[in-house]
Amino acid sequence: MTLQSKLPHIGTTIFTVMSRLATEENAINLSQGFPGFGADPLLLEMVAKYVRDGMNQYAPMVGIPALREVLAEKTRLTQGYFPDPETEVTIVSGATEAIFSAVSAVVRSGDEVIILEPAYDSYEPAVTLNGGIPVYVRLNSTDFSVNWEKVKASVSPKTRAILVNTPHNPSGFVWDKSDLDTLADLIRGREIYVISDEVYEHITFDGKPHFSLGGHPELRSKTFVCGSFGKTFHVTGWKIGYCIAPRTLTAEFRKIHQYVTFSTVTPIQFALAEYLEAPDRYLSIPGFYQKKRDLFAMGLAKTALKIIPSQGSFFQMASYGHLSSMADQKLAIEMTKKLKVACIPISVFYSDKQDDKIIRFCFAKENDQLEEALSRLKKLEDILN
Ligand SMILES: Cc1ncc(COP(=O)(O)O)c(C=O)c1O
Repeated sequence: MTLQSKLPHIGTTIFTVMSRLATEENAINLSQGFPGFGADPLLLEMVAKYVRDGMNQYAPMVGIPALREVLAEKTRLTQGYFPDPETEVTIVSGATEAIFSAVSAVVRSGDEVIILEPAYDSYEPAVTLNGGIPVYVRLNSTDFSVNWEKVKASVSPKTRAILVNTPHNPSGFVWDKSDLDTLADLIRGREIYVISDEVYEHITFDGKPHFSLGGHPELRSKTFVCGSFGKTFHVTGWKIGYCIAPRTLTAEFRKIHQYVTFSTVTPIQFALAEYLEAPDRYLSIPGFYQKKRDLFAMGLAKTALKIIPSQGSFFQMASYGHLSSMADQKLAIEMTKKLKVACIPISVFYSDKQDDKIIRFCFAKENDQLEEALSRLKKLEDILN
């Protein structure tokens, strides 16, 4: 018997490859998107307390009420609307699960799903495994804003959903309110759902606000907002996130979530519910990351690389086409081996592996690590020749 793969084109992800290489080469790992520093000790203590207090059995399938309520309150405070904690908020095992369950809830065999690329790698398999057909639309190549004319041209009677991501990984582009209005115009009167990946909702710079698609009254009725506590509170290994969607969509979403994981780690739900009671714990995050973005972007500007401004997320992209025609995957490997700094080549975020000679760095690291990486990157030209 030979098992016919349902995902024959999927191998080991570049994130695993680059992180492994970074460890082997003892390089500074600015490749994979995870913080290099710990969480607030208070949050850790809260988790320990709930573990000790015996909150260690299954949580309710939809998440504990206290966490759903405080999340609804956070949404009111930051986005100006209050989703019903009972029927519109679900706690899940990370945004990856939220995206997979939302896609599974709406995509049927033969449905087309628009994916804006460069795109996070979990979108396409979620669509394909549900029998959907990914339809790729490229973001504008200069600033990674959405090319709405192209999106419009890709809509067909078979379009069932569009997957969007703001703040965007890998570019850091953040949608304006006008982007939300344009999307609302585009899907008005059609049965097209929106799966909105907003895991970097609390990481925007220079005072730029994050506009959740759930905050747009018209889009809200068609949108699954997917979020991640792991990204917000520097605890990506906890794999806990949420989905906010209108009642009818949430009902279908929960049917899938129920059989993907059923419920999500109990003591961490209690800890987050308590921790989120003080809004400053999430409202202070943009300021914290702005300092790192500034430090890294200013340092990078002094190297031979050309920086592509990042408005949000904890990523900074840079181009090197003016220096060399080396393939971006090769450059990432050479940089790790010779300069001992690991990054991610952007071609891996494109379905056809288009190589625009751009690389991505994660700056969610301790400042001394960032400074050391920047000093090593000054020698970049030596490895390009
Ligand atoms: C754009 C984007 N979406 C989703 C995720 C996954 O989030 P989680 O760890 O909560 O599943 C990531 C993590 O890197 C991401 O960058």
